[in-house]
Amino acid sequence: MIFYKTEAEIAFMKEAAQLVSKTLTEVAKNLKPGMTTMQIDTLCATFVRDHKAIPSFYKYNGYPHNVCTSVNDVVVHGFPNNIELKDGDIVSVDMGVILNGWHGDHAYTFIIGEVDVEVLQLVKITKQSLYKGIEKAIANNRIGDISFAIQEHTEKKYGYGVVRELVGHGLGRNLHEDPQVPNYGKRGNGPKLKENLVLAIEPMINLGTKDVYTDRDGWTVKTQDGKVSVHFEHDVCVKKDKALILSDYSIIEAAEKANSNLNTSYY
Ligand code: MF3
Ligand code: CO
Repeated sequence: MIFYKTEAEIAFMKEAAQLVSKTLTEVAKNLKPGMTTMQIDTLCATFVRDHKAIPSFYKYNGYPHNVCTSVNDVVVHGFPNNIELKDGDIVSVDMGVILNGWHGDHAYTFIIGEVDVEVLQLVKITKQSLYKGIEKAIANNRIGDISFAIQEHTEKKYGYGVVRELVGHGLGRNLHEDPQVPNYGKRGNGPKLKENLVLAIEPMINLGTKDVYTDRDGWTVKTQDGKVSVHFEHDVCVKKDKALILSDYSIIEAAEKANSNLNTSYY
């Protein structure tokens, strides 16, 4: 069942989404070689609790950590651990919060130091594809219009692998609500979009094959060929002429640019 939100509820959801943005901004400020993903987890959880919210992933379907930190060939749901990040790594940080009963859930991929140009391009194009999808999140379009736009910009244009097994989703009082938002599909297919539907749109795009597998820990999703994967996620509200983006990359990007340990040369 699809839940449409009132303007008041959308205002609450924006606060939740922006708390995640602020948390990811803290990550952007602090990230450097030598930092561990467990330190990212602690930083995020502390920041969120200090802002009277709850990290929503913890214990969700038994997930054992506060955030997902997915390094290099990890697509999503990577467990934070005590391995130090190093120059040349990319890491997606995915975080969910519950604030005043409403969920925020979004993600950003950071580049630490020097990486191949093909990795820079994958990061750039994946982020662009998220915005291509968001452009289609307007009333009277269909979910398939969003899906098609993302697939077109990544798989068709650049030959990247679009992960099939994981999808975006509705967001609200629950972390995962209807409808599903695949990152592949046909124009004009799927549920029709109506105003005030809130979606988490989240392309997961692989440099090589689209095929993935789940690690023995039951969570960590990795690329079959061991090549890198990138993940960006925004929370957006469907509107008549232009989607309203509830989360905010501008503060993350400003912090990223100010941190000389992070590579922003793809901008
Ligand atoms: N952003 C992911 C999603 O929307 C995170 C879920 S991970 C979990 O599905 F730990 F919460 F399961
Ligand atoms: Co999500």
